[in-house]
Amino acid sequence: MEAFRIEGPVHLSGSVRINGAKNASLPIIAATILAGGKSILKGVPNLIDIEVFSKLIESLGGKVERSADGLLSVDTTVIDKPVGEYEIVRRMRASVCILGPLLARYGSVKVSMPGGCAIGDRPIDIHLRGLRALGAKIYLENGYIVAESPNGLKGAEIFLGGPFGSTVLGTANVMMAATMAKGATIIESAACEPEIVDLAMCLNKMGAKISGIGSPRLKVEGVQELEAVEYEVIPDRIEAGTFMVAAAVTGSELRLSNCRLEDMMAVVDTLRNIGVSVESAGQEVIVSRRGAIKPVDITTLPYPGFPTDLQAQFMALLSLADGNSIIIEKVFPDRFMHLAELNRMAANLRKEGPVVISAGVDKLIAAQVMASDLRASAALVLAGLVAEGTTIVNRVYHLDRGYERLEERLNKVGAKIARVDI
Ligand code: EPZ
Repeated sequence: MEAFRIEGPVHLSGSVRINGAKNASLPIIAATILAGGKSILKGVPNLIDIEVFSKLIESLGGKVERSADGLLSVDTTVIDKPVGEYEIVRRMRASVCILGPLLARYGSVKVSMPGGCAIGDRPIDIHLRGLRALGAKIYLENGYIVAESPNGLKGAEIFLGGPFGSTVLGTANVMMAATMAKGATIIESAACEPEIVDLAMCLNKMGAKISGIGSPRLKVEGVQELEAVEYEVIPDRIEAGTFMVAAAVTGSELRLSNCRLEDMMAVVDTLRNIGVSVESAGQEVIVSRRGAIKPVDITTLPYPGFPTDLQAQFMALLSLADGNSIIIEKVFPDRFMHLAELNRMAANLRKEGPVVISAGVDKLIAAQVMASDLRASAALVLAGLVAEGTTIVNRVYHLDRGYERLEERLNKVGAKIARVDI
């Protein structure tokens, strides 16, 4: 099994180009199901999750190819098996966002219920509530969700909020289904994440009529059909935030290109409160830290709040702060698999339910640690950059799901990471 062997502490310097957003690419690939024909997507990163999703589209009857210059072509002219098999769905929860498009275009779909994962229970009750509101008949059969709308979908007024606020992929599913429903749909408490904005912009380019984009209240006027599209996905704000923490935790300066600061105001505000400089310079963003790491309190919330997908990375950074920080996880209250691993590296983190108190320590000490989910893995790599000695991060396949060639891109700016077989 592959692991990273990381020498620390290191000092980083140089430029990194941020890739296209994984979490925009996945629902946008699903959206191509709504229109027969060949769509061309630009900026889709080369990740395991994208490969898995491409296999899913092919299992439905579609064709997915990546050209030499990195464009992803998705041909969904033929979709003759609207079934999301367990074998694929169990590997990636985002597969669930084929529900809406298949229902809209074919009037029937079977998708394996997604399982839980390292960051906690991952229900889809709100997805199903929204699709039922559009007129779908939905029932469970041997672990599969069966959704049928033989007479087509009908626009409705839908409240899509849940106990943790809005749902990103739930909004994606219901919005995609509503694009071809008869009449207008209102989605109240819609997710406002930049990736959902990107999906809505792509759908409108395909011929959908969505307004209120970026707000918690979306209006979708149903249309007869959508067209295949050429579209470029937005940069990955979570990858950008991860590299910003790499600069901050090592007390270095990095220059990031293809980075949209307007998508990351909560993150930038938090970095500046920690004592990290984040400045735009032409087409680049310069991130640097020279002084102490100041303690801050972080609460993860739906966008525009602090993103849960950067909680683990900031926990690694705050484990070295000059004082106590409090981290409250309000989106996935169990998302703390990285905590015990960071404590193995001499962090001083204590968990009380969804609240973690980080008593800052002077240094982290290298250790063998275990990656558990995508963002926890990133946090352990970041800790390894600054820990004294040789850190081994096991199970880096978790990392490859969401970061393209991370070790190569960090080594290019001064890290010392080797991918090894253990
Ligand atoms: C998306 O997951 C992202 N994944 C996640 O990123 C991200 O952490 C999450 O949004 C929150 O920002 C993709 O976009 C592929 P949710 P999603 O539905 O849509 C509860 C990463 O690291 N909920 O917004 O599945 C849910 O349990 C991944 O890139 C219900 O209760 O998340 C959670 O507590 C990890 N019922 C909260 O809502 C539902 O029907 C937010 O989940 C749906 C969700």
